[in-house]
Amino acid sequence: MADKVPDRLSWAAEVVAPGPADRILEIGCGHGVLLSLLADRLTSGTITALDRSDKMVAAATKRNAPHIASGKAVIRQAELSAADFKGRLFDKIVAVRVNVFWMDPARELAAVRRLLEPSGLFYLFFDPPSPTQAEPIAAKLTANLESNGFRVLRKAFTVIGAGKGVCVVAEPS
Ligand SMILES: C[S@@+](CC[C@H](N)C(=O)[O-])C[C@H]1O[C@@H](n2cnc3c(N)ncnc32)[C@H](O)[C@@H]1O
Repeated sequence: MADKVPDRLSWAAEVVAPGPADRILEIGCGHGVLLSLLADRLTSGTITALDRSDKMVAAATKRNAPHIASGKAVIRQAELSAADFKGRLFDKIVAVRVNVFWMDPARELAAVRRLLEPSGLFYLFFDPPSPTQAEPIAAKLTANLESNGFRVLRKAFTVIGAGKGVCVVAEPS
């Protein structure tokens, strides 16, 4: 039986809604579940994922073997702030539950800016267990983004179990 897709990740795929030719980067792909949902929607587009954990890269690689074999997906073990894609740029960059972005993310946001097309979009998702945490997290993400070279375009919220999903979408300013 196929694993159940966590609600936070099916919601993230709906919000990102990639176009068929998008070039996507996922930061902190974990087991590669969102990577798989996004890759399913691409035709000529590609998705690159990175995670600093060898274990997570191995799990995501196993789960996405068909997408990797077809050339649609690439998964790399790397720390975001040190990742080098040789000048390649991405249309959409996505991160789900990657805690550094609501902590002190100056180095990581500088890396996202380097990797994002000038017209590209950056999607940050969190799913706090208590719904009351959603607005404060969105406000903190907004402050972090706006003090590090991004303009926030919109915020989205959804109910996830007893908690709430938060997404902040930003572009380079
Ligand atoms: C809580 S897990 C979330 C995984 C997945 N996005 C999900 O929602 O299921 C966070 C993942 O991000 C990775 N990660 C955290 N900070 C990172 C960084 N600075 N560079 C690369 N990977 C990072 C961790 O290794 C971990 O696999």
